[in-house]
Order: sequence, then structure tokens, then C-alpha cells
Amino acid sequence: MSVSLKIKEYMEQSSWIRKMFEQGIELKSKLGAENVFDFSLGNPNLEPPEKVKEAILKVLADRRLGKHAYMPNAGLKETRQAVANSLSKEHRIRISWEQIIMTCGAGGGLNVALKTLLDEKDEVIVLAPYFVEYFFYINNHNGFRQLIHTNEDFTLNLKAVEGAVNQKTKAIIINSPNNPSGVVYDKKSIDSLGKILLKAKETYSQPVYLLSDEPYSKLVYDGLKVPSVLMAYPYSLLITSYSKDLSLPGERIGYIAVNPEMENWQQVVDGLTFCNRILGFVNAPALMQRILPHLQGVTVDVSQYQRKRDLLCQGLSDAGYSFIKPQGAFYLFPKSPIPDDVLFVQTLLQENILAVPGMGFGTPGHFRLAYCVEDRVIEGSLEGFRRAIRKYSS
Ligand SMILES: Cc1ncc(COP(=O)(O)O)c(C=O)c1O
Repeated sequence: MSVSLKIKEYMEQSSWIRKMFEQGIELKSKLGAENVFDFSLGNPNLEPPEKVKEAILKVLADRRLGKHAYMPNAGLKETRQAVANSLSKEHRIRISWEQIIMTCGAGGGLNVALKTLLDEKDEVIVLAPYFVEYFFYINNHNGFRQLIHTNEDFTLNLKAVEGAVNQKTKAIIINSPNNPSGVVYDKKSIDSLGKILLKAKETYSQPVYLLSDEPYSKLVYDGLKVPSVLMAYPYSLLITSYSKDLSLPGERIGYIAVNPEMENWQQVVDGLTFCNRILGFVNAPALMQRILPHLQGVTVDVSQYQRKRDLLCQGLSDAGYSFIKPQGAFYLFPKSPIPDDVLFVQTLLQENILAVPGMGFGTPGHFRLAYCVEDRVIEGSLEGFRRAIRKYSS
């Protein structure tokens, strides 16, 4: 076997995800996909808005040559300008096109940011429950993760952040709306986080960069708005994508916005641009960049996800499950009725329900349901959820 020992070990660590995936495929081929209730993947079930197709056709109809050519590593000026204009309005901050770097999704953006910022053995604070890829991303760039936990209700644990920051801390990654909890950090806690990080800059004479991973920022419910990290803290980078709000995850398009208040923003932008190149991304996909100026302010119909959230929450609550009602994204993270979340996920599997154990997100005792699925999947699963919890009620 010529795969590196490290990668072998990582593949084993995340093998339960593969196992779930394989069990799902097996179950679907045995029972028919329509009889399996698959909540395992965050793959949006809504098609992209019609305007996406219109924008693609418009770009293709333009007869000018060079549409698909290489471009500056940070992306097309007109695309960066369109993104900067939207962000300036949303965040009430003057952000210039030069402070936007187009990336291959938020995942690509996170790798570019970590590559740019981390020296060997620098620490990056991560809050559980977390998006599992963060650890692999940090390790890709020779950093160390420093794991802390959110509060019981999955809100920002500011005391834990304050206690974790030290001389070696180079960055902190936050994710709101959160995968897997659906929690949105409120303005007060984002502002307080900014203050804690500013204090740390004074103490250690170097900034802790705030990497705000926000691919779900447009998927929020009940009229909520995601508070601005750019307004709260000068050393912040907003990293996001159109994977979820335009349902384009396979097209790999996103961006990093560098806070214009950052003292050394030009140096950071130059670093990000260079790392986009040397990580082999070179630049974000050209066709996707060209459609974006036509699509600012366009999102999928968020009310459909809100309806699915309500349907699932009502059904699970009636069945006796307890959970924090998600404010955004399309995940629900209920408490497992038994401490062993892996065993409970196996119990759900007997009901043809696919879920992911909380241990995969650093928070055992819970399980994750991705409700970006057809309504019939939610409706059809509820009887199984009821039977599964009954097996453990005394
Ligand atoms: C929290 C979080 N961050 C980043 C990503 C990566 O998204 P992208 O498709 O934009 O790379 C995901 C994808 O599911 C996610 O859930």
C-alpha cells in the first residue's frame, strides 16, 4: 500500500462516514431509493433558481472570445466588483473589489486562507460541534487544531474562546448558521468575540484571524439576519460560497472577503491570491464567475427549507425527541435518546432512516439530520422515528 500513513489514518478516522454512505447505497439498491429516508448528506434538493440558467445562457450567447481562458488568480474584476457592491450594502462597510478573492467554494476558500496564514504548528481554534473537514484542512497546512465546545444550546462559548487563545493562536474558525446545529450566533456574541480577539491582539502583539465560514448565511429563517463579522472585528475574513444559496455545490464557486479595516489587508490579499495559485486552484471557475454579476441578491426559495424545518421539528417533537430549533442552514441536531449515538443511528437504520452520529461532529450524544430533502422523505420517515425512540423509552 503506497498511500501515506497519515492519509491512511485519516481515512480510517472518517470511515464511519463512508460506512454510512455505503450502507445507504446498499439499502437503496435492496429496497428502492423511494423507500429509504436519507438525511445523511447536505446536498441541496432544490434546483438552482431559473435566473441561474438564464445567466448561463446569456454568458454563452456572448460571442466575445476568451470566456474560458486563464485570468488573474484572484478572479475577474467585474465579478469581484459585483460581490464587493453587494457586501458593502449588506454589511454597511465600504469594501473594494480588490478585497475579494474568488475561490473554488468555501472549502477551497478555507484552504487558501489557512495556507496563507499558518506557520508550522500555529494553532487554530475550532468549536464543537464542527464541520469535520476543518481538521483535515488545518492539517493540510501544518497547523494544530485547538478544540473547544460551544454552550449546551450550541451558542458561542465566549469564556472558552477567551481561555483558549494563546501566543500560538493564529486563527479561529466560526460557522454560523452552523452545520450541524443550525444555530445562528447573535450580534451580541459576535461583537463580544471581536472584543476578546482585539484584547488578545494587545496581549500577544499579533492578531488572531477570524475565519467566518458562512456558506449558509442566506439560509436563515423567521426574518433573522446573520450579524456581520466584518463590522465586529478588523482581522476577519468572510469565507463563503454559492453552493447552498444558489444550489450550485458541484460548480465550486465562492469567495473570500478580506476586512478593509485590516491593517495589512493588501499583504493578506496578495497571500490569498498567491495561494489560490499554488494550491492548484489557479482561479475559480470562469463560467461561474461570469454569471455572478447577474445573480447578486438571488437565492433559492428559502421558505421551502423553512417549511421542511417546521415539518421535521413538529414530527420529531411529537415523537418525543428534544433539540434546539434551527435558525438557519438545513440541519437538525437532536439529542440521541440514548448516550450511544452510533447505536441509535443503527437503530434508525433498521427503520430505513439514514442519519449521521454526533461523534462525527465532535459532539457525541446527538445525531444530525440534513433536511434538504423532498417533503415525502420527511413525512415518510416520521413513523420510523417514533418506533425508534419507543424502543428506548422505559
Ligand atoms: C460548514 C461548511 N463549511 C464549508 C462547506 C463547504 O462548502 P463548499 O461547497 O462551498 O466548498 C460546507 C459544505 O457542506 C459546510 O457545511
